Amino acid sequence: MSEDTTTAAESNGDALENLLTENRQFPPSADFAANAVVKAGEYEAANADRAAFWGKQARELLSWTKDFTKTLDWSNPPFATWFDDGELNASYNALDRHVEAGNGDRVAIYFEGEPGDTRTYTYAQLTEEVKKATNAFEALGVSRGDRVAVYLPMIPEAVITLLACARIGAIHSVVFGGFSAEALRSRIDDAEAKLVVTADGTFRRGKPSSLKPAVDEALTAPGHTVEHVVVVKRNGEDVNWVEGRDLWWDDTVSTASTEHTAVGHPAEHPLFILYTSGTTGKPKGILHTTGGYLTQTAYTHKAVFDLHPETDVFWCTADVGWVTGHSYVTYAPLVNGATQVIYEGTPDSPHQGRFWEIVEKYKVSILYTAPTAIRTFMKWGEDIPAKYDLSSIRVLGSVGEPINPEAWMWYRRVIGADKAPVVDTWWQTETGAIMIAPLPGVTSAKPGSAQTPLPGIAVDVVDELGASVPDGHGGYLVIREPWPAMLRGIWGDNERYKSTYWARFDDMYFAGDGAKKDADGDVWLLGRVDDVMNVSGHRLSTTEIESALVSHPSVAEAAVVGAADETTGQAVVAFVILRGSAVDDPDIVTTLRNHVGHEIGPIAKPKTILVVPELPKTRSGKIMRRLLKDIAEGREAGDSSTLADNTVMNQISDSLKA
Ligand code: WT7
Repeated sequence: MSEDTTTAAESNGDALENLLTENRQFPPSADFAANAVVKAGEYEAANADRAAFWGKQARELLSWTKDFTKTLDWSNPPFATWFDDGELNASYNALDRHVEAGNGDRVAIYFEGEPGDTRTYTYAQLTEEVKKATNAFEALGVSRGDRVAVYLPMIPEAVITLLACARIGAIHSVVFGGFSAEALRSRIDDAEAKLVVTADGTFRRGKPSSLKPAVDEALTAPGHTVEHVVVVKRNGEDVNWVEGRDLWWDDTVSTASTEHTAVGHPAEHPLFILYTSGTTGKPKGILHTTGGYLTQTAYTHKAVFDLHPETDVFWCTADVGWVTGHSYVTYAPLVNGATQVIYEGTPDSPHQGRFWEIVEKYKVSILYTAPTAIRTFMKWGEDIPAKYDLSSIRVLGSVGEPINPEAWMWYRRVIGADKAPVVDTWWQTETGAIMIAPLPGVTSAKPGSAQTPLPGIAVDVVDELGASVPDGHGGYLVIREPWPAMLRGIWGDNERYKSTYWARFDDMYFAGDGAKKDADGDVWLLGRVDDVMNVSGHRLSTTEIESALVSHPSVAEAAVVGAADETTGQAVVAFVILRGSAVDDPDIVTTLRNHVGHEIGPIAKPKTILVVPELPKTRSGKIMRRLLKDIAEGREAGDSSTLADNTVMNQISDSLKA
């Protein structure tokens, strides 16, 4: 590792500390274990022959229009294929087949809008809506392999759009609504999207919040590939309209035919691209394909959440703009025939009990949310959830960042009535589906640990040289064998795919996370070891924010670090060297924060911007972010002996005192 890279231990000292003292364990109750979907024997059977195990899951969980004869092909690493000669349709698997099996009247989606409007879709109704959207998109010239950019709020039309694309075999590329026009533009261009599906806007804390203007701005640049923009009317705001290009959803989709027969697509046909931050400035278009992705998302949804689709009500609070909203909102719950809740808004709108009101109203039995939300609820106080009937809850999931043991304990005790198992699920945009998590009916749970690689998944923790570390030691998290939902590459950049994930260690996938095995061999995640930050479970690149800052004429140089933050996990702290007269501008910090918001999106705005005279650099010119992180976290700066100029740290601290 280079001298300026943060180590796993440094990046999450708290987790390490807790790990040393954590010895509480929560085995499943006898009752839960007896009724669990997945029992203990699963690990042995799966790990004896992983490919065969996944082949069995693929046939049991999915309907294929053409059966496969091959499971895994790893003859050309790191490019895997799964179920290669099989064919299936993702949309058919999520919809039609449930109707054909007599479950058309089962509720697929309970939608709760932020202003309190509600809609319910049965499987039969949702199937009809998706068929209409499919016909409408096809009429606009979208066909198999075309890319469709999606810039929508968390409303049913988002799920309908994705499933319509999947039905056609068009590749969806969702851009989170919190990203800027500029971020949207670069993603539309990289994927060469033909169609954009958006909305006039959404609601945020009772106020309208617009989306369409960002699409208009993104499409002002010449040479883009977009032919049409379909606009869902959601918040009723006035929108700018480009005749011939823009179409209302209500005029195109709502009037389309409800007849559409799905055809099978090859198992390795691309299902979607989803951009995520890496260690360089340019986001990576993570590519997922159909058969393996659906197999592992469906299996993990069933196994990790102990899903009983006839009786459970599942609620994953993630936005469709993130991979969690793809795998555990759009695909797995519907493929598994489950009933789920979709909520448009924020947890505090119009009051801080909104989540618990929704749990009570829809009798949510499985809740899947993020540690940052849990820590926020803790801060708001337990008297708020205490006002609601949460007795329907029987499984609680966590995802996105390490969950500190105290948050885990609070989640179980306050939300789970001291009995619902908490499953901490580790995975990434790249892994497509959950990789490490306890099985609620099997595992004796430990607060703060994701614990065990799932059946059929080969995870390890290794040292610098790639050797497996013994129990009780820490290192880098790797995945030793290909898995069905693994990314198939980075859109348009096979070299970057190889160098990012497969070059660090021979024949192993490098996840970018630090981890530790405890005395029992359970895995504890310790945060990123690269230049990726995790703010409220959102992945942000230090380099990307630095690039945004230096693109402003007032900034000469910038360095960004993720500083530990009690609520958001990490917070973005930027150190900037200003140019010329900007030094005297009293509004410069606000200007720069807004500039980052405009370049990347509001979620990337630095919490703190510190104006400094110099940045600490090594002799080779690399910024030593480790030292800046010390300052950002209020510590004495560590060893600075490798700095090119060892007076720099004093200059910085003097300037900050001034
Ligand atoms: C990174 C991936 C997986 C969907 C949401 C995030 C961190 C994720 C956990 C967890 C500790 C976690 C990792 C990972 N992360 N889940 N349970 N415990 N860390 O997806 O945006 O691709 O981010 O999130 O650092 O590498 P993503």
